[in-house]
Amino acid sequence: MAGFFAAQASPNIAIIKYWGKRNDLLKLPMNDSVSVTLAGPFFTETKVELSGAGKDSMEINGRPADDRELLNVRLVLDFLRKKAGNTLKATISTRNSFPEGTGIASSASGYAALASASAAALGLELSPAELSVAARLGSGSACRSVIGGFVHWKMGIENDGSDSYAVQVAAPSHWDGFRIVTAITTSQPKKIGSTDGMKRTVETSSLYRQRLEALPGRTAKVLAAIMKKDAGLLFRLAMEESNNLHAVMMDSYPPLFYLDDVSRGIIASIHELNEAKGSFVAGYSFDAGPNAHVFTTERYCSEVEALLKAQGVGRVVVSKPGPGVEVLGSDSKIRNRP
Ligand code: DP6
Repeated sequence: MAGFFAAQASPNIAIIKYWGKRNDLLKLPMNDSVSVTLAGPFFTETKVELSGAGKDSMEINGRPADDRELLNVRLVLDFLRKKAGNTLKATISTRNSFPEGTGIASSASGYAALASASAAALGLELSPAELSVAARLGSGSACRSVIGGFVHWKMGIENDGSDSYAVQVAAPSHWDGFRIVTAITTSQPKKIGSTDGMKRTVETSSLYRQRLEALPGRTAKVLAAIMKKDAGLLFRLAMEESNNLHAVMMDSYPPLFYLDDVSRGIIASIHELNEAKGSFVAGYSFDAGPNAHVFTTERYCSEVEALLKAQGVGRVVVSKPGPGVEVLGSDSKIRNRP
């Protein structure tokens, strides 16, 4: 590819989860969410090249994007093209540092990198909020990967989504000893993806109403625990939140089961660890899949790793809070990088 612009972004793990939309196309959520953006080893690098002719095309880890992915890519591009006042078409190539099927969601890092590289290619200088809005149009959780450290996605109230974006709560350096230990328990793709799963919950779960009522209180407590670096409180709230999410998933019709026996073994072992220590030294969090994300601190990290391996988990990866999306520059700048 000649004349491309590239950007790199990392996945984020939600402590308060996004699950349910009030507008499917614009990915406007039913609730605020709170997350931490990871520093390596998982990341996505996306290159965008613009030209006057042809149509938008995208390749992901060497395979062509499917129709739904292309639709979401065009939502991001059209939003940015409108801002830039042009109609140029994009040729996009994106690579993940982790293979598809490891169970690590690549949509958050993918659309954050896409929004950033496309904005740069179009010559736009956007605020983090505008970039976050653009990434959200690709995949809701991507709006959080634009921002580094501890992040709050405010759901907003406007119908056009202009006030639904992520902001930083605290920089990665605020809590350097914070760790996210990810247990990759399966490489099977999930049967029902987040987009379809959350729609089913909104349409069918009566417990979901109670979840929405409880969330503002829990979110405020999580934000306060982050600011105070109150690990014990944060880990307990993260587990409560994950359990509540999976309760409403199961209350959906037909029910959504994302956890498996290994996930349940991990849940039990984290509770045992906390009981043995007499305080909350770790807290698990599960998304729409069986892989566990365990929040802990540097002090207990190797104990948590060992415990996950003892549950038969093949691959355990430790991350710290990391930066938001980074524009790597144009091809000439990348070639000249030291
Ligand atoms: C369970 O952002 O993948 O990981 O907006 O439909 O693309 P779409 O959904 P997506 O959903 C993520 C759901 C989650 C929780 C979270 O990350 O907050």
